[in-house]
Amino acid sequence: MGGKIQAIGVLTGGGDAPGLNAVIRAVVRTAAGHYEWDIVGFKDGYAGMVEKHIVSLGMDDVSGLLTRGGTILGTSNKANPFVWPLGEGENRQTVDRSDEAMSYMKTLGLDALVCIGGDGTLSIADGLSRKGIPVVGIPKTIDNDIYETDQTFGFDTAVSTATEALDRIHTTAESHHRVMIVEVMGRNAGWLALHSGIAGGGDIILIPEIPYSMDSICEKIIWRNRSGRLFSMVVVAEGAMPEGGEKTVARIVEDSPDPVRLGGIGNVVAKEIEDRLDLECRVTVLGHLLRGGTPTSFDRILATRLGSEAVHMLARGESGSMVRLRSNEISSVEISKIANRQRLVPSDHALLRLGREMGVCFGD
Ligand code: F6P
Repeated sequence: MGGKIQAIGVLTGGGDAPGLNAVIRAVVRTAAGHYEWDIVGFKDGYAGMVEKHIVSLGMDDVSGLLTRGGTILGTSNKANPFVWPLGEGENRQTVDRSDEAMSYMKTLGLDALVCIGGDGTLSIADGLSRKGIPVVGIPKTIDNDIYETDQTFGFDTAVSTATEALDRIHTTAESHHRVMIVEVMGRNAGWLALHSGIAGGGDIILIPEIPYSMDSICEKIIWRNRSGRLFSMVVVAEGAMPEGGEKTVARIVEDSPDPVRLGGIGNVVAKEIEDRLDLECRVTVLGHLLRGGTPTSFDRILATRLGSEAVHMLARGESGSMVRLRSNEISSVEISKIANRQRLVPSDHALLRLGREMGVCFGD
């Protein structure tokens, strides 16, 4: 493989995020429209590469995709050609099917690959590039937890959706004099909770990076009640945990590179508040609502910039790189620098300082 490019493959892996279709559109428009390459889409991430499920993508196929949520290619956060599950129950084992995937791409006449996904998808992409196919990765996740990029597409939309939900919950909190707890996604990072919590006027924001104390949360609620604010808004990241305690696990997904699914901390916090204070709590888990819908204009532009530049990078002969946003410019970085790492909120982050100035309690 190598030489002048005539055909490329594209896939989307991991949890979906608003803007994925806009990236696919930008990749196809640049590759087909600008370079006149053929494009093959793999269905359901790396599953399509191993199980040979593909679709040919031309300019007509990406018409109307800019605003559409989800991914027309389908996605999977389990399929990994290097660690492919085989057998059931006690006979269950894993096999390396990456050579098969490589020879399938050769049969298809693919000269390069664009992989759109989070750290798991991009780590696999890096493995394939080491096997000889030029690969460019595009970072995607509503969690915003990928290193070496200032922001991932999908995050801005998820923050907007969460903020709108908080605004709506705020009015019912005020009317009923309740403590409203809103749980948001984010995996082990607090970016979504922090940004939406600040934008939505959260009184208490709990993020995984700052283990919380129930005393501190209750003090804040009591203080608000004494000063006449008879309701409180608590924004809690799914990865938040008490001081000296554990994260709340919702389920374990077998065969997933990151099998732990977090969730349920909102109910844990609500129960503790009701046990300690004579107040009514209600919990709203925003969950997958944050992954759906039309991308914001920011995410549409970011997705288009990243998709287009990924193709230009391949045309320039780059491989094993990820396209990224850095100081509002699009540039690239080696995938190996970001693989299997999660970017967390640093303790000196400006929004934490700002939140504290605004009187937000972070549970510490
Ligand atoms: O990484 C994106 C994300 O939505 C996380 O915020 C969340 O923890 C996880 O995916 C949920 O995964 P699943 O779709 O498997 O429930």
